[in-house]
Amino acid sequence: MSFTIDGKQVLTALDRYLEESRQAEKPVIHQETIETIHEQLNLAAIFREGGLSGNRLDRFLSSYLDNTTRLHHPGYLAHQVGNPHPLAALGSFIDGVTNNAMAIYEMGPAAAAIEFFMVNQLLDRVGWAQMPFDTKERLTFDHGAGVLTHGGSLANMTALMTARNHVNPNLRENGCAGGLAILAPDSCHYSVSKTAGILGIGEKNVMGLPTDRMGRIQPDQVVKSIEKARTAGHSIVALIANACTTGTGLFDPIDAIADICREHSIWFHVDGAHGGSLLFSKKHRHVLAGLQKADSLILDAHKMLRTPTVCAALLVKHAATLDHAFQHDAGYLFHEKYQPGFDFISQTVECTKAGLGLRFFLAIAAQGETGMAEYIDSCIDLTGSVHAFIASQPDFQAPYSPQSNILCFRYQGSDRQQLAIRDRLIQEGDFYLSSTTIHGQRFLRMVIISPATTLDDIKALVHTIRKVAKLV
Ligand SMILES: Cc1ncc(COP(=O)(O)O)c(C=O)c1O
Repeated sequence: MSFTIDGKQVLTALDRYLEESRQAEKPVIHQETIETIHEQLNLAAIFREGGLSGNRLDRFLSSYLDNTTRLHHPGYLAHQVGNPHPLAALGSFIDGVTNNAMAIYEMGPAAAAIEFFMVNQLLDRVGWAQMPFDTKERLTFDHGAGVLTHGGSLANMTALMTARNHVNPNLRENGCAGGLAILAPDSCHYSVSKTAGILGIGEKNVMGLPTDRMGRIQPDQVVKSIEKARTAGHSIVALIANACTTGTGLFDPIDAIADICREHSIWFHVDGAHGGSLLFSKKHRHVLAGLQKADSLILDAHKMLRTPTVCAALLVKHAATLDHAFQHDAGYLFHEKYQPGFDFISQTVECTKAGLGLRFFLAIAAQGETGMAEYIDSCIDLTGSVHAFIASQPDFQAPYSPQSNILCFRYQGSDRQQLAIRDRLIQEGDFYLSSTTIHGQRFLRMVIISPATTLDDIKALVHTIRKVAKLV
């Protein structure tokens, strides 16, 4: 095995892959059975014999890439999985080779320093004080804090654990006395109820906030929900707003909800896994107005910030809340030492943690902040044009004006027919859509995230939907 020869082979194959994906020369999605893929990849023989290089490596890569879902294809319109910039992907590669588990500073100073830099960039955008370099100043906790995590679900869990400890500092050690609750709209991501289960709050104690027909929190109903929960004897751990909702891509009115939370001394958490990225857009960030009044925020760089999976950020306004969320003993890690940097380990669920900051930094470094803003704006603006086009078709329905790059729509016919259309599109391989329900009704759902997608592709999609609808 030669690192440079094999590496060149891999890069050449990936270069070709990107080009044929962007040019739609291969299907956007292609699903064989597990057994067939095992055979095509020759897994058993390679596992037995090793020696995966030269022509064998070429054949392996070719089969592997032919069985991927192509995110760079113009017909990729399905999920909020980032369209990684190639430079950011090289960041994941560098991380794979160096493998610096950087939650302890001495185990990866460069990776930790970049994470520190990226967290501060995000804090500044929210309007929260950046973490100082100086250790003594950091210990005053008179600033914000944050950490990059392996995904938004983990970031949400860390945020809610931080909020729970804030409400009851002894809970982590002494366990749950009961009576805790989270207030969130039913449209919130399922990682919230998963977290409530994990944290001992109880999934049933995620209490729904009243929403409009599109799943947005109605601020004038929030106080009633708070009073109801408190009258029933619950301690409210946090109130959660979506920025934006996974299903529809619509934003809750953050500013109004923040004021209510402050008035009632409730931890306000904003789930910005998808839409927190709009902090990078001058044109669209107004939908996040009031965000600086929140207590915590998560955002996934691996959704709209062209960063390879996974890289999420949890940010808190007050550093002490996060720092005090995790305090453990481990003689091999926590002891006196020369400490020129910062150990993120006191703020994370993970012990071994990848250097997630590099891929994130490189995603932005490739085009700078302006280039990133242009990418975000172009996805959202195109979604607006797509909405206008689809809404003008007599046989289609698009029930709301999009605020992000997510759009739900329906073709005429039953709920079952929407799913049958989706399945048929996937089999044909030119377009890949997802689907969700709004108010009990089934919709097709698109996430415009590939820079290759144009309005002409969507016009072709509409034409194809009409064609396949006759066959399902
Ligand atoms: C609003 C919201 N929160 C949380 C998550 C979970 O993030 P992850 O998939 O990175 O765990 C998602 C993912 O789609 C999301 O849309």
